[in-house]
Amino acid sequence: MEIKEYLSDKKRLVEDKLDSLMLAAEGPFSGHIEAMRYSLFAGGKRVRPILCLASAEAVTNDPALRDEALIIGCALECIHTYSLIHDDLPAMDDDQLRRGKPTNHMLHGEAGAILAGDGLLTFAFELLARPATAISTTTQVKIIRLVAEAAGPLGMVGGQALDIAGENSSYPFEHLQTIHRSKTGALIRCAVQTGALAGGANSEQMQQLTSYGEAIGLAFQIVDDLLDATSTTEVLGKSAGSDQIRGKATYPAFFGIEKTRNLARNAVEQATQALAGFDAPAAPLVQLAEYIYARTY
Ligand code: IPE
Ligand code: IPE
Ligand code: MG
Ligand code: MG
Ligand code: MG
Repeated sequence: MEIKEYLSDKKRLVEDKLDSLMLAAEGPFSGHIEAMRYSLFAGGKRVRPILCLASAEAVTNDPALRDEALIIGCALECIHTYSLIHDDLPAMDDDQLRRGKPTNHMLHGEAGAILAGDGLLTFAFELLARPATAISTTTQVKIIRLVAEAAGPLGMVGGQALDIAGENSSYPFEHLQTIHRSKTGALIRCAVQTGALAGGANSEQMQQLTSYGEAIGLAFQIVDDLLDATSTTEVLGKSAGSDQIRGKATYPAFFGIEKTRNLARNAVEQATQALAGFDAPAAPLVQLAEYIYARTY
């Protein structure tokens, strides 16, 4: 199957599942829920849930286990969306456009946007901890812990703190890599790992998929930096060139465009090499790694 078709198929699955899981904007909390829904359904690429599902599909044919992975993927999309809402706030990257639409705080105000993010983060853990029938409680607790670690102070949130602290300062390469691996890489790696766990991966598969997830997680942020430096606001649906304006620690700022492109390529090749030994069921993961490199937004 062509990757385009694969992505649009899986995206539809994710959208339907998210819609069925997400709270309806009614009753006394309708304004708050509306603010959560605004960003959640604003047209994201759904890369993390698709990776979670593809990872499960690489290790199991069982539809019940694949459905667990889809729900976990939806929880990760809630966490990712919260991270974007907060990332765009005036106190952080101060951006006005996201997913082609006004950022959450432009419409719902800063307090409303902060709370929409808080709501999405907390709701994600409610989803992860829902009564599950297809996977054991032990597996579920492992998944919850992995997500908390990836999203928390040594993962995404910690990476965001380093990103903000690193504006307009000089930094060694190792620090740049730490920022990228934590602010973006951790949640992407976690999507692959939790999908594999839900699918019942054995320890060798788990190891391979973890290496794959780490490599595409880093590649994803390197490409995000590249697109910020080389694409347009219209194509990206978010303000191009904002990294340079804010003096962010990015790969292009450190290495220039060409070397950055090569480093993204290397990371993607490392990812696909990590999958050696997986047969046909891992083909979409290989294609997803290529997509992460070649994407235009
Ligand atoms: C953007 O993520 C922010 C990063 C972590 C690099 P995506 O490129 O996945 O954004 P959406 O979800 O498709 O809008
Ligand atoms: C965001 O990195 C990483 C997050 C955890 C949200 P960026 O600040 O580069 O993401 P964009 O470019 O605004 O989407
Ligand atoms: Mg940022
Ligand atoms: Mg940003
Ligand atoms: Mg960016």
